Amino acid sequence: GAVVSQQPRRAVSKSGASVTIECRAVDFQATTVFWYRQFPKRGLVLMATSNAGTNATYEQGYNKDKLPISQPNLTFSSLMVTNVDPADSSLYFCGARDTALGRDQRPRQESW
Ligand SMILES: *[C@@H]1O[C@H](CO)[C@@H](O)[C@H](O)[C@H]1NC(C)=O
Ligand SMILES: *[C@@H]1O[C@H](CO)[C@@H](O)[C@H](O)[C@H]1NC(C)=O
Repeated sequence: GAVVSQQPRRAVSKSGASVTIECRAVDFQATTVFWYRQFPKRGLVLMATSNAGTNATYEQGYNKDKLPISQPNLTFSSLMVTNVDPADSSLYFCGARDTALGRDQRPRQESW
């Protein structure tokens, strides 16, 4: 089946620094990449949606200055969490959609 891998699994950072989370589609073409974070008791919350070669679109409350996203091609996307503070401590997930497979993938990421 289609596999998405995320790196790093876990990151610890000083306040004010940036953390980059990379997401790779291992054996399929990720036409659309979704970036989520998980809040306690609220489940996964979509932050932004990225399509290869175009700028990501952000949900209300999230923006490209805080969370710049890069998706240079169909197998790679990265999310940067800039100027981190304790409120950014969370589980972050990327998911991907391959229109050919019609399936969504949601692996797990721990980070802050
Ligand atoms: C993407 O964002 C950059 C920087 O904000 C902007 O210059 C560019 O026009 C945008 N491209 C598209 C396709 O919206
Ligand atoms: C996609 O971009 C990533 C990051 O720049 C790069 O490591 C990877 O080799 C690229 N893949 C292809 C198929 O171009």
